[in-house]
Formats: sequence, C-alpha cells, structure tokens
Amino acid sequence: MSDSLAEHVHYLGLANRSDLYRSAISDCIAPDDTVADLGCGVGVLGIFCLEVGASHVWGIDSSDAIYLAQETVRKAGLDKHYTCIASSTFRAELAEPVDALICDHIGYFGIDYGIIDMVRDAAKRMLKPGGAIMPDKLVLQIAGVSSDACHEKAAAWSDDIVPKVFHWIDEQARNTKYPHEFAPGELCSAPVELGQITLNADTPEYFSFEAEIEITSSGRFDGLAGWFKSHLGNDVWMTNSPLDPNGIKRSQAFFPIARPFDVQRGDRISVTIRARPEGNFLAWDITPRGGPTQKQSNWATTILAEADRATLDGPLRLNDNAQASQYILSLVDGQRTAAQIEETVMRDRPDLMPSQQGTRNLVRDILKRCAVS
Ligand SMILES: C[S@@+](CC[C@H](N)C(=O)[O-])C[C@H]1O[C@@H](n2cnc3c(N)ncnc32)[C@H](O)[C@@H]1O
Repeated sequence: MSDSLAEHVHYLGLANRSDLYRSAISDCIAPDDTVADLGCGVGVLGIFCLEVGASHVWGIDSSDAIYLAQETVRKAGLDKHYTCIASSTFRAELAEPVDALICDHIGYFGIDYGIIDMVRDAAKRMLKPGGAIMPDKLVLQIAGVSSDACHEKAAAWSDDIVPKVFHWIDEQARNTKYPHEFAPGELCSAPVELGQITLNADTPEYFSFEAEIEITSSGRFDGLAGWFKSHLGNDVWMTNSPLDPNGIKRSQAFFPIARPFDVQRGDRISVTIRARPEGNFLAWDITPRGGPTQKQSNWATTILAEADRATLDGPLRLNDNAQASQYILSLVDGQRTAAQIEETVMRDRPDLMPSQQGTRNLVRDILKRCAVS
C-alpha cells in the first residue's frame, strides 16, 4: 500500500492537472451522465464527475488503490453514486453502458502506458454510441537531445564503476526508454509533431510515424525526447511538454541511441517511431543525413535474452499458459458463443487456473483479446 500512497498523492499534487480535468469534465459531463473511470486509482477523476452532477461512476482499478477509492467515497457519502470494481478494465463488466469514459493513462509519451488498448476495449464494451472519451486525442511531440545527464543514463551500465562483467548490458540499456525531466537546454532541436492518435473503439493496433528534426545547437546527439499533448475536451489540452510553462510536471521520455554522434546547427535528422501498444513494443530509428541509421527497440534485447536462448536449444513444446490459451482458442470455431465456450471450459477443464473464478477470468480475457463476433 505504501507504493500506492506515494504514487497517488503524486498525481493529486501535480500542479494544473486537476484544474485541467475539472475544466474538461464541466464541459463534457452533463447532469445525470454515467461515467467509467478507467484505472481510477483513488477515484479522483470520477469524484470530479460527481461534483458536476454525474449520476453514477464506475471506478475500475487493478491495484490496491481501489480500496482507498472505496473508503474515500464511503466517507464522503458518495458511495450510492460510485461503484468500485477491483479488476483490470479488460475483465470488468458494467451493469450498463456509460455516457463517458475518463482516464489519465497517458504515461510519459502518450502511448507508452497502455491507453490505446485500454480505451479501445472500454469504448467497445462499456460506452454508449457517441459517448464522450476523455482524453480522445493524443498529439506526440519529439525533439533532439544533447544532454550529459541523458548520456550518462544511457551509458550507466558501461561506466567504469560498474564491474566489467556487466558491461554487456549496455546494449540492453540503449534499447530502453527512460523517464527524464528535460530542461529546455537539453534539447538540441525545436520540437516537431510526430503524429496524432484518436482514441476510440477503432484505434489501430500498429503505428508508424516519420518526422524530421533540424538541429538548432551544435554538439553531441544523444537521442530523442518525447512527450504528449492530450485533448481532454472542448479546448482543454494537457501536456507534459518541458517547453510549456503550463505543462504538468510529469517526466518526458528519453530514447537513447547506441552511438551518440556529433551534429552541427542546421543538420537534419530523420526519425521513424513505430509502436504496437499491445505488448508494449516501441522502436525508434534515427538517421542523420548520409546515414547510417541507428535502430533501437525495447524488444531488440528482450524477446530472446541469452538465458532464454539456452533453454530453447532442444525440441520445443508449449508451456502450461500457452497450452491453456491454445485449448481455449481451439473452441473458437465460428459456431460457439462466448458463453458456450466458457461453459465448455468450466465443464471439461475447470482446473486450468488455481480457482474456478481464475479459469473464468482467463477464458474471458483470452476471448476479449483474440476473438471477434
Ligand atoms: C496514472 S494512474 C491514474 C490514477 C487516477 N485515475 C488519477 O488520475 O489520479 C493509473 C492507474 O491505473 C491503474 N491501472 C493500470 N492498468 C489498469 C488496467 N488495465 N485496469 C485497471 N486499472 C489499471 C493503476 O493501478 C493506477 O492506479
């Protein structure tokens, strides 16, 4: 619980954030609207919705923060209007579709904390047609980075103080995204817009964005900074831009490169960023004029670590989890409904998970992610 306390008081204390959400909520939530607060934490956004007259909020959170939300609404006398659901949003079922979805699941770079999948799923299953989504749009921005602090972060595993046997982890470290609070002086280009994403039931599962940045100060190029602008409603935008004095004080993302290189003012650098939110895949390619391209990806070193490779030498078979998924998916035959599949699994293989409820949740989770009607 202590981690939750520290995490959530941090969100509550972020200057401007509550004001921006309150302002968007008073524009977008009509009296008597119902709302689902996705990843509600201690319930703050849903409580703001009740303050402007929402008739009911379903607050959903998979962490123990949900118990803080529950006690908070009870003590505040709001519990008739606020239902807490201790669950992943992907498994939660609401009694009825709602008028609005709300969340702050925007991470450091907009797409790095799971908002796309979370909102897509909730918009399909929980939202009335035409219902409001807050936020409903993300604008991704990037800039070049020339920063000793970032340089050291990316090179930490090969620092002299680290025993040499660990220096091989440097490759992993350079394929990792870091939170960093950028000072404007650490950016060596003007910011450019990388792309925009509309959040709804149809948000694509794969993105590829291209942009070009122009160097404004000569020096060493260490990688990219990325941040978001999120559209909360009407003309209300929330950003963690290090260049916006009204931005919320949330770290931005630093994307390092394997081999920092020297740049001159006026140089142009091409950037491609690809993302598959499910599985949390992010790749960033950086090409100075004349090349070569440096390709980094948070999957480059995690798909098959050396340790996994060693255990994959002999003939392969599916592990227990994959066998369970394979069995459940074998029942998706174009004939059975979800209820019939769940019934079949509970009759024939209730032991797939340690508890029967666990087995039901597994079936629902796999069907939600892998099946369509
Ligand atoms: C960034 S915090 C925001 C909390 C709160 N909405 C606020 O604005 O202060 C995100 C919360 O989402 C929860 N969370 C993350 N993924 C979730 C999921 N798939 N289902 C339910 N809760 C989730 C986390 O436990 C965390 O409490």
